[in-house]
Amino acid sequence: MTIAQPTSKTATANPAQGKEPETFDAQEMSAELMQAAADNDTATDSAGEARTGSQWQSPYGKSLTNNMWYFAVPGDSLKPGQMVSKTMLNEPVLVGRDQDGKVFAMRDICPHQAVKLSAGTFDGKEVACPFHGWRFDTAGVCTDVPSLCSNQQINLGKICTRSFHCREVLGSVWVYFGSVKSVDDLPEVPYAPGLEGASYHKTTTTLLLPTHIDYAVAALIDTAHVPFVHKSWWWRSQRSMKEKAKTYVPSGTGWTMVKHKPSQHSIVFKLIGKYIETEISFRLPGCRREYISFHDKTMISGITTLTPIDDTHTELNHTTYWTPAVIKPFRPLVTPIVDYFVTTFLKQDQTLAIMQSEILGKYNPRLIMTIKDAGTPGHWYFLLKKEWNEATAKGRPFVNPIRESILRWRT
Ligand code: FES
Ligand SMILES: [Fe+2]
Repeated sequence: MTIAQPTSKTATANPAQGKEPETFDAQEMSAELMQAAADNDTATDSAGEARTGSQWQSPYGKSLTNNMWYFAVPGDSLKPGQMVSKTMLNEPVLVGRDQDGKVFAMRDICPHQAVKLSAGTFDGKEVACPFHGWRFDTAGVCTDVPSLCSNQQINLGKICTRSFHCREVLGSVWVYFGSVKSVDDLPEVPYAPGLEGASYHKTTTTLLLPTHIDYAVAALIDTAHVPFVHKSWWWRSQRSMKEKAKTYVPSGTGWTMVKHKPSQHSIVFKLIGKYIETEISFRLPGCRREYISFHDKTMISGITTLTPIDDTHTELNHTTYWTPAVIKPFRPLVTPIVDYFVTTFLKQDQTLAIMQSEILGKYNPRLIMTIKDAGTPGHWYFLLKKEWNEATAKGRPFVNPIRESILRWRT
């Protein structure tokens, strides 16, 4: 199977490429999404009370995207010989690092009597189950059943727990969910852009969002909430709202908002904004990537990833990379400062997600989803997800459905 590889710089083949950029037209949004918006206009009954929307077919929360890499853990949280247990996409997953430093992942269920393997021990080569001591190598294959006598033989190679493809890229560990005939067919692991050949420091912030990944993605790529949710003295206020027009191009399994000078809405960017440029991009299944460069040298790069825990919970990990050398006495201060700003920012999003989940879980309201043009990336996400799932199910190349567009909104 050939799958178009996501890249940070190259746009994926698209029939509309080469045409002049155009403003995306909400009228061309899918019938399903437009219908949802239209239905919302009449979503109160004669008594003026909101209907629960039991008939409403929301595109949110219907499925998870398969055949994709998902962020598992920061690489520096796993020393050689260590393992951790995580739930990812409704699966218990053991993620570990062997004695040679190589990461691996397997289903965290012993095939003998269903105990978590991660509750056992790991000697850097094999995991031993805590119940009867069966041992498994890092590919999930059984290597020893201690209760067997010397004249009792079974084919240990046939006893195994599922193993997952696992990679470490730029210090982050990723697990692949899906099936491929060969490792050559694996899609590219998402990565923070602009760091090729650079030496960097990094820190990862982790938060739990109590919503399906679809809602978390919608918030991640939504720019209209920024002046209302991210109000901090050091960042911006609602008063700084301005009209924006940004050019988007299809790229990889998502899009890139082409390189531009950042808005001067925050103290930070007012001070240094005229010297720097930023590029923001999105990749399925839920990766927002951004880097800030100074005279074409990347200073800060970040990747925000969304990993479904289950159908109503999503783990958000934001990894910040910085390249400037910091003089020795100040080095211990940088990570806590970055963590403070990133955590403050992301907790503002988490607060909204908690409020949203309470309403969604109780009332399942109809939603207006087609606000032009601020809502367009949210629409693109569902188009991308649909195309990815169809392409991988049929074994055909993924064709990015997004057209080069200029989107305008106030933020
Ligand atoms: S349950 Fe794991 S060895 Fe028996
Ligand atoms: Fe946000």
